[in-house]
Amino acid sequence: MIFVTGGAGFIGSNFILDWLADPHAEPVLNIDKLTYAGNPYNLSSVAGDARYAFVQADICDEQAIATLLSRYRPRAILHFAAESHVDRSIHRSDEFILTNVNGTFNLLNKSLHYWQSLPERERADFRFLHVSTDEVYGSLAPDDPPFSETSPYSPNSPYSASKAAADHLVRASHHTYGLPTLTTHCSNNYGPYHFPEKLIPLVISHALSGKPLPLYGDGQQIRDWLYVSDHCTALRAVLARGRIGQTYNIGGWNEQTNLHVVQTLCDTLDELHPRARGSYRELITFVKDRPGHDRRYAIDARKLEHELGWRPTESFQSGIGKTVRWYLAHGDWVAQVRSGAYLNWLRQQYGDHPPGAL
Ligand code: NAD
Ligand code: DAU
Repeated sequence: MIFVTGGAGFIGSNFILDWLADPHAEPVLNIDKLTYAGNPYNLSSVAGDARYAFVQADICDEQAIATLLSRYRPRAILHFAAESHVDRSIHRSDEFILTNVNGTFNLLNKSLHYWQSLPERERADFRFLHVSTDEVYGSLAPDDPPFSETSPYSPNSPYSASKAAADHLVRASHHTYGLPTLTTHCSNNYGPYHFPEKLIPLVISHALSGKPLPLYGDGQQIRDWLYVSDHCTALRAVLARGRIGQTYNIGGWNEQTNLHVVQTLCDTLDELHPRARGSYRELITFVKDRPGHDRRYAIDARKLEHELGWRPTESFQSGIGKTVRWYLAHGDWVAQVRSGAYLNWLRQQYGDHPPGAL
């Protein structure tokens, strides 16, 4: 089987659903602490699948991780679990250091002991895939080339600094002890199950409730947006065929200003779910900027294309269309995660056993 940490979050849920859509896929054990961002309800469609199991555990918990490794003997670990929201890291960074740095360190340590104990054949097959971010490279000027795998580290927020620290620990585990690691640096994802604190789902849910659509500063910051299922496909390619110890950048070749992203969302909503009067664009409101706000991210994903033949399949227009349609059809999901009611619902429905719990 494979282990997925943080599989109840946005990208982890999408990854597990995508993985299990293949009838030949290996079983998955989802290890998630269920912070505010983790929602096992995302995975209720696979809860009855014999290949899916869920364990509520903290990646910082030494005993829990050691026990799970020796009991289930995974062939690979895909490490998604993290505190992921930049604005939260600016308000308070403790949890970011605990989970992103100490948690990754614990996972690496326990994986190393486990890997060293394996027979030769299983040791050769084992992989530790660390899911990192383009934010570790810092911010680009308008004319800079996009980030490549050799761009220097220059993290600017507590979130990106904690991810950078984790990346270095992963690198050291491979370099010093030979742990078969792979690291990916992905750009901004969007799509179903995206927690509505992040720009795209926040704008959709605010627009649908007639609330202002907050754009930080001048709205001219640039991100490179990738539809989440393209990220999942890239991770599968890296896991299957990536060279051990290597890093791979994943991006959408799709740089957009935040203003353009929000205007596109408004136009898509105008078409699919018109307001009684006027356009959603009228709700756009410029607000105080994020402290230390990175101006531009862009990914050069040629290594992944040349070595593993991966390219994104979704265009920005088609991906945004799918995303808006998903949120329009899943207003209950947004209402639940926003109110925290889904936690109560889960307890009511499943007691101490979220969907798929062992
Ligand atoms: P998310 O915040 O939606 O989900 C994080 C998940 O991790 C949640 O289910 C949460 O419960 C779990 N978690 C948090 N702390 C934990 C702990 N101590 N032990 C076990 N589980 C814990 O995040 P996401 O957007 O899905 O991002 C997943 C990964 O991808 C992160 O490592 C993030 O840095 C990286 N990433 C995200 C993006 C993006 O655009 N969202 C882009 C590039 C890389
Ligand atoms: O680049 C990858 C990163 O993308 C991931 O590593 C992070 O986990 C993920 O959260 C994301 O970080 P960002 O800070 O880029 O995403 P966010 O959706 O928070 O913001 C996107 C841009 O929109 C950013 O420039 C800030 C801006 N923004 C965000 C919010 C929430 C606004 O203008 N208004 C808002 O209300």
